[in-house]
Amino acid sequence: MGNIFMSLKDVGNKVPIYKLKTTEEVMKYYDEWGVENKYNNDMKEWNYTGPKETVDTFKKYSTNKDSIIFDAGCGTGLVGLQLKRFGYNNFHGADLSQKLLDTVPKDLYQKLIKVDLNKPIDIKDSFYDAVMCVGTFTFAHVKPQALDEFLRITKSNGLICFTINEGIYKEYGFDKKINELKKQNKWKELEFFKSDYIASKDINAWLGIYKVLK
Ligand SMILES: C[S@@+](CC[C@H](N)C(=O)[O-])C[C@H]1O[C@@H](n2cnc3c(N)ncnc32)[C@H](O)[C@@H]1O
Repeated sequence: MGNIFMSLKDVGNKVPIYKLKTTEEVMKYYDEWGVENKYNNDMKEWNYTGPKETVDTFKKYSTNKDSIIFDAGCGTGLVGLQLKRFGYNNFHGADLSQKLLDTVPKDLYQKLIKVDLNKPIDIKDSFYDAVMCVGTFTFAHVKPQALDEFLRITKSNGLICFTINEGIYKEYGFDKKINELKKQNKWKELEFFKSDYIASKDINAWLGIYKVLK
């Protein structure tokens, strides 16, 4: 007879990055992961579908291809490649790892900046039409408070679209934060569902898209 604990997924043990604790460790790990295209090769091997699923959802609600989009935690630019595929032409990338930013294909993004998304972002209020954040709400990466900054830099009626690794969704308080923002009428939920993400490793993510109310 099965143990009840066997039905709980131990997501935190599945991928080495999930064991990291500090922002320093996370940065160092990604700096090394980018060498010789290893991150992109691993994502291909794992059949990581986060960028495609997120942009597929985003494009249903964002018909203006000239929208100015902030890709928060852009890494090697996998979300940028999907945005370009669907005709978006005006997006900026931001990431903690300069080494990953250096691997982003030239001219894919109009601008790339190095940022720590756990701190205030040096961008003026209501600048972007949309924020995308894929794969970056996960173990020891970026905390729920970053959603306040995403709201601040997004225009009224703009969109915020993100994934949250299922393993930290409750533990880090994303569930509470999302509901608080709904109750405060800071945003309206358009979709929120469990996406495949890294199904090959049995790791799924919540995928949400919200309309900003100001
Ligand atoms: C799993 S990768 C996802 C990258 C890309 N969005 C994708 O889907 O391939 C997570 C990214 O978050 C970045 N990251 C982690 N902590 C961060 C922080 N505090 N501020 C900004 N970026 C961070 C990492 O450098 C890495 O590029």
